[in-house]
Amino acid sequence: MKQAISINVNGVDHASEVEPRVLLVHFLREVLGLTGTHVGCETSICGACTVLLDGQAVKSCTVFAVQADGTNVTTIEGLAANGQLHHVQEGFWECHGLQCGFCTPGMIMTSTQIIDRNPNPSREQIRHGLEGNLCRCTGYQHIVEAVEYAAKKASA
Ligand code: FES
Ligand code: FES
Repeated sequence: MKQAISINVNGVDHASEVEPRVLLVHFLREVLGLTGTHVGCETSICGACTVLLDGQAVKSCTVFAVQADGTNVTTIEGLAANGQLHHVQEGFWECHGLQCGFCTPGMIMTSTQIIDRNPNPSREQIRHGLEGNLCRCTGYQHIVEAVEYAAKKASA
């Protein structure tokens, strides 16, 4: 039986009715059409589905949409503002932090939380913060540099 939910996504309220088994990632992608949040594994390993749920980075394949009822969700589509990339997005652009881009939305959402929690993270702290996000392309070095770039920009 469907359940009524209301979730604020990227500043917009969305009221909907969903089956309790629907995962948040599928709600975002298939109901709201926000396909920037990717599905890599659905088993909480890859981090491609990472979004911010009330400001906390979560893997949206591990959350049911009904559990997100009443929350504020930020996806990759909600980061840029007024035509300006978020400083983490800019960091990935400037430091070549992506190749195929599949992992990138999740990497960026996790990276925003790393910097929110620690405005001046060391390389080790960045690597530790990104442990739950897998990339098959970059070797991670450019991603770490992108987060360092963003941290410097944010505190400038
Ligand atoms: S799709 Fe959610 S962690 Fe891989
Ligand atoms: S850029 Fe291809 S998986 Fe990370």
